[in-house]
Amino acid sequence: MRHATIIGTGSYLPDNILTNDDMAKLVETSDEWIASRTGIKERRISKGEKTSDLAYEAARKALQNAKLDAKDLDLIICATITPDSFMPSVSCIVQERLGASKAAAFDLTAACTGLIYAMATASAFIESGMYQNILVIGAETLSKTLDWTDRSTCVLFGDGAGALVITASEQKKGIISVNLLSDGSKQEYLCLSAIPLSNPFVIKEDGIFQPTISMKGQEVFKFAVRSITDHIKTVLLKAAITAEDIKYIVTHQANYRIIEHAAKSSGIPLEKFFMNLDRYGNTSAATIGIALDEMVQKDMLQTGDRIILVGFGGGMTSGAILVEWN
Ligand code: COA
Repeated sequence: MRHATIIGTGSYLPDNILTNDDMAKLVETSDEWIASRTGIKERRISKGEKTSDLAYEAARKALQNAKLDAKDLDLIICATITPDSFMPSVSCIVQERLGASKAAAFDLTAACTGLIYAMATASAFIESGMYQNILVIGAETLSKTLDWTDRSTCVLFGDGAGALVITASEQKKGIISVNLLSDGSKQEYLCLSAIPLSNPFVIKEDGIFQPTISMKGQEVFKFAVRSITDHIKTVLLKAAITAEDIKYIVTHQANYRIIEHAAKSSGIPLEKFFMNLDRYGNTSAATIGIALDEMVQKDMLQTGDRIILVGFGGGMTSGAILVEWN
C-alpha cells in the first residue's frame, strides 16, 4: 500500500512584530491580561503582503527542503479563510509563481483545522494512486478580518504561512492515522461573513460591508479542549499505539491555557506539547505548518519519531493526524 510521507517543510512570517504593549496602544488591554489569559506575547502583522505572498514564500522553502522541483508537483492545496480573492484561488496564484506547470490547484476552507483537512486530502489522493507529489499550504492574513476595536478578538490573531511537501512512499511511514470531524450545530461559536446576498431581488444593505471575526470565546475554549482530547485518543486507537509512543503533540496554536487543559484531561505531560504561540498568536490554518517547520529547523524530529497534529476551529471543525516522521 502507498503511504503519504512528509519530505519537506517551510514557513514564512511577515517581519512586522506587534507586541502586547503595542496592542495596548490600540485597544484597552495589557500585556499582563493577554499573556496570562492566552500565552500570546506578540504576533506578526502584514504591512502589505497578501495571503498568496506568504503562501508562496512558505511553499518555496518547503520545496527547497524537500529538494523537489516545482515542475514535479501534481497538486497544490492551500488551506485558507483569508484568500486574496474568491477567484483566482491562492493555490492557482502560487502554482503560477512557482512554475508548477503540471499541478492542479485548489483552496480548501476548514478554518483553523484547514491544514489538517488539506493533509488528509493529500494523503487520500496519494493512497489512491492518483498523485505522487503534493504541496499543502496553510496561509492567512487574518489581520484584514479583525475588528481592531474589539479587544476580545483582535489580540488573539496574527498573519503567517506554513507549507509541507507530501509524497508517495512504499514504506509504512508518514501519515499513519487520520480523524476528521465537523459540527455545524455550533457554527455561531466562530464566524466570519463573506459577501452578503444582494441582487435585483434582494434589498441592498446600506453602507460598505466589512466582514470581521466574531467569537464566543468560552464556548470555543471548551470545544477546543474536548476536541484535542478526543482526537488524540481516536488517532492513537486507530494506529493501535499509546501516548507513550508519541514524542510530540502539535496542536493548533490558539491559547496556552487550552493546551494546558487538554494535556491534563488527556493525561499526557505538557512537555510533549510543542508551543510557539507566544511569538505568533493564532495564525489559523497556518499554525501547525509553522510549528512543524520550526521543529524541523531546531532538529527536534528524527526518523521514526511519532507525532500527533491536532486542529480545531470555525465550522466547527476539528481533526488530527498521527505521523511517523520520515
Ligand atoms: N484585554 C483586557 N480585558 C479583556 C480583553 C483584553 N484583550 N478581552 C476581554 N477582556 C475582558 C472582558 O471584557 C471581560 O470583562 P468584564 O468581566 O468586565 O465583562 C473580562 O475580560 C473577561 O472576559 P471573558 O471573555 O470572560 O474572558 P475569558 O477568560 O473567557 O478569556 C479568551 C477570553 C478569548 C482569552 C478565552 O475565552 C479564549 O481563549 N477562548 C478561545 C478563543 C480561541 O482560541 N479562538 C480561536 C479558536 S480557533
